[in-house]
Amino acid sequence: MSQSLVIAIDGPAGTGKSSVARGLAKALDADYLDTGAMYRIVTLSVLRSDIDLDDTAAIAAAVSDVDLAVGHDPDTDRSYLAGEDVSAEIRGDAVTKAVSAVSAVPEVRVRLVELQRELASAPGNVVVEGRDIGTVVLPDADVKIFLTASAEERARRRHDQNVAAGLPSDYETVLADVRRRDHLDSTRAVSPLRAADDAVVVDTSEMNQSEVITFLTELVAQKVGVGQ
Ligand code: DC
Repeated sequence: MSQSLVIAIDGPAGTGKSSVARGLAKALDADYLDTGAMYRIVTLSVLRSDIDLDDTAAIAAAVSDVDLAVGHDPDTDRSYLAGEDVSAEIRGDAVTKAVSAVSAVPEVRVRLVELQRELASAPGNVVVEGRDIGTVVLPDADVKIFLTASAEERARRRHDQNVAAGLPSDYETVLADVRRRDHLDSTRAVSPLRAADDAVVVDTSEMNQSEVITFLTELVAQKVGVGQ
């Protein structure tokens, strides 16, 4: 491929978005940027500084000092806070519970969006994954994809993951939580989760991961005429 392609992938949790975005980046020989990881690193820094999650002014003041870095190789992308590899810690419960509050602070979004634009402008193809990439971060992306799956299917996947991990899980409770978060995500004031007008909406409810990756690789080829 001679062109430099920018591909935005957005959508809620539970759609297989991260695995699919990595798979697509590999298929296109592209860099991969996980913007959720960036919100998680800032959240870890906030937690380590013992900042109260209700204290949005303190979070806003702290964000400019966070020294964060993320890798861009879809096979080995790592996350760093002040040079420390925090890739595992940012996936833990404490960060997962706190990240919504931190990512809703406008100053956090302003700083991370700026960084995301800078990283995405590096030469070469890039797949950028998040919630607001096609709408806010990279409105001029060459291809915008919005992954969805039914609430029932996303709840089933999460419930199955919980069971496989030996965690107590009740499907109806998980489903109620998925619906509650959908409502919060799509109605929040700052960067609500929604598909860009020019995004291709792909429902993954009835597809497995490799089917989705193949579908998206073909979609990108069609949209930009790659390999044709
Ligand atoms: O995709 P993830 O679960 O790692 O994202 C972590 C959190 O960050 C999630 O609460 C949504 C938020 N996020 C966001 O607000 N904007 C993005 N571009 C990416 C993630």
